Amino acid sequence: MIFDTRPKVQVHIAQTNESFPCAGDESLLKGMLRLGRKGIPVGCVNGGCGVCKVKILEGSTTTLGPVSRAHVSAEEEAQGYTLACRVAPTCAVKLEVAGKFEKPFSRGFVQTNQIAT
Ligand code: FES
Repeated sequence: MIFDTRPKVQVHIAQTNESFPCAGDESLLKGMLRLGRKGIPVGCVNGGCGVCKVKILEGSTTTLGPVSRAHVSAEEEAQGYTLACRVAPTCAVKLEVAGKFEKPFSRGFVQTNQIAT
């Protein structure tokens, strides 16, 4: 078993009141996906679709790749909006999902707790 020993900070999603640890060299979205969480809507994971749009309420991030102006305007960026698949945390972050939040997990897997007999 390989352990991920990278230092991590906590990322908190305001709407779901969920937190997850994220490394400083991975995007907020990949940190969430690595743990199988689903609080932020997931799309292309490459900055192209905009569904992972979030507003950083507390903390700060650094950009890992271009944030498309088609999804985040310069004015929105100045207000803290960004794409979760394009930024990594530089310290603990509290964010609010700003993209399409309605039923983002409807196609996810459901774990059943069946006991083999
Ligand atoms: S998941 Fe598509 S832009 Fe982030």
